[in-house]
Amino acid sequence: MKRFEDHVALITAAGRGIGAATAHRLAEEGASVLVTDIDEAAAGKIAASIREQGGTAREFGCDVGDRDSVEAAVAYAVETFDRRGALDVLVNNACACHPDAALFEEEDDEEWAVDLDITLTGAYRCARAALPYLVASGRGAIVNIGSVNGIQDFGNHAYSAAKAGLASLTRTLAGHAGPRGVRVNLVAPGTVRTTAWAGRDEQLDAMRELYPLGRVGEPADIAAAVAFLASSDAAWITGAVLPVDGGTTAVSSGFMAIRG
Ligand SMILES: NC(=O)c1ccc[n+]([C@@H]2O[C@H](COP(=O)([O-])OP(=O)(O)OC[C@H]3O[C@@H](n4cnc5c(N)ncnc54)[C@H](O)[C@@H]3O)[C@@H](O)[C@H]2O)c1
Repeated sequence: MKRFEDHVALITAAGRGIGAATAHRLAEEGASVLVTDIDEAAAGKIAASIREQGGTAREFGCDVGDRDSVEAAVAYAVETFDRRGALDVLVNNACACHPDAALFEEEDDEEWAVDLDITLTGAYRCARAALPYLVASGRGAIVNIGSVNGIQDFGNHAYSAAKAGLASLTRTLAGHAGPRGVRVNLVAPGTVRTTAWAGRDEQLDAMRELYPLGRVGEPADIAAAVAFLASSDAAWITGAVLPVDGGTTAVSSGFMAIRG
């Protein structure tokens, strides 16, 4: 029996990268997956490749910055795949991350607001829309995609504040939704080789030094952790923040470099 047989999953920002890998992983394990992304064409390509591999998937254009768009995506997932009027898995994967200004005093209000709105409030919008259907499932699970940036300073002030906020939202929502049968957890990836790092191969190679396991992550590393937390294997886990980061937040590379 596959872990997500007869499960319906909705993933945001799944047109590429970690979201796309997660869509493939959940579909391989039996889920019917709604691949959503602000870029509907990109979502369409991922859904088509899942179907080519024998899985069940459809695409939907969804901007997590827009409440109506989010509510339409959730309704579409339930109507398309489910006769119970339920959703089993929500993966909140979308983010916005503007580069930091050279000086903190020069940070731009609008860029700060967008990073918070897409990265943190977007997950809140999706959870709010999906919660009644996750409750109806009786085995609902939300997995938020955070970041090591929500745990330590790796730059990107607004994005990092939003990711730390997402860890807080994970805990408060776990408390609220647990008694209604819904689990809420967060995966905090370290550096993962996706298009977010396109054209920066040298930087990625240099970053191996920061990772006790000797490499940066691949999207499949994160998808595997998401699948675990979304599955019944994690039936007694809620409110957790799971670093999936090759050990980088467990060690102080600065200290190790000086100690030798
Ligand atoms: N790649 C990394 O090194 C890394 C590290 C830590 C955490 N993460 C987190 O993993 C998640 C995915 O990152 P990735 O590297 O796979 O991203 P990516 O850049 O490869 O893909 C991002 C996707 O998000 C979509 N998107 C952008 N704005 C959106 C919106 N408003 N609504 C819906 N979709 C939108 C884009 O169209 C794109 O398909 C993010 O939450 C990110 O913070 C990534």
